[in-house]
Amino acid sequence: MTETPIPSRATGSWHTAAPSSTIPPGETDEWLLAYRDGGYGEIQGWLSPGAMDLVRALAAAQGAMQMTDGGAMEIGIFHGRFFIALNGVVRDATTPSIAIDLFADQALNIDGSGQGDESTFRANLARYDRHGGRNVTILQADSTALTPSDILRQVPIRPRLISIDGGHTAEHVVSDLTLSAAVVAPAGLILVDDILSAGWLGVFEGVVTYLMRRPTLWPVAVGYNKLVMCPMSVHEAYRSLIMRSGIVSFPKTTRLCGYDVLVAAH
Ligand SMILES: C[S@@+](CC[C@H](N)C(=O)[O-])C[C@H]1O[C@@H](n2cnc3c(N)ncnc32)[C@H](O)[C@@H]1O
Repeated sequence: MTETPIPSRATGSWHTAAPSSTIPPGETDEWLLAYRDGGYGEIQGWLSPGAMDLVRALAAAQGAMQMTDGGAMEIGIFHGRFFIALNGVVRDATTPSIAIDLFADQALNIDGSGQGDESTFRANLARYDRHGGRNVTILQADSTALTPSDILRQVPIRPRLISIDGGHTAEHVVSDLTLSAAVVAPAGLILVDDILSAGWLGVFEGVVTYLMRRPTLWPVAVGYNKLVMCPMSVHEAYRSLIMRSGIVSFPKTTRLCGYDVLVAAH
């Protein structure tokens, strides 16, 4: 972080002052830290450990908002490395979460974005998940064929943390964002993986295409190859609370399609 204020530019601005107070860590953060330093490294997958810190920061922000209802949802599970992190934010094993992947139906995996393996995922849930997978519904499905009621039938409480990491074409991303926006909790968060991967530009194209429709889901933060989005009515609240997490620092705000987006320091 620089001491000298840099004038705000059309493309964003640097933050010149540290947040005045940070959010104290709780039991959930202890579990996430233990998973980051343990099981996370033993499960095959592509995530950087920094993505775990981003989840910790988002969990702290939701905790500060007293947002404890709602489970996790992920589209694109592979072996569950990130899903298990998201389900670790869920404190109560009676809160339902949902894991969606093509799994054995790989003929529908048209862009080859990893091959989900249900039996490996189940074994990882049993071994590493905070709740041993007891609150998890596993849905083998092509996400582009799902409707919001397909999801809400399985998880009657709307998820408060959703990760999109299934098919990586622009069409998959637009479809998965539309589906996720229809089921996410009123102040929930949606993370889009591979937002800045040169090998998966469909993800960036899909996000921009979606944002050009002026949706009510706005991007709020970016870091560790994930774009975080939230409902517009809580955008400013999340911006402030994510900055105060004290776990990841966000020295800059950038602009994407006209929205202010916090940039994590790597
Ligand atoms: C990059 S991997 C997911 C990685 C995972 N999030 C992790 O933490 O390691 C992509 C996954 O998306 C699944 N997938 C691809 N297309 C899909 C689709 N249309 N619907 C649901 N899942 C899909 C693949 O089977 C694969 O397991």
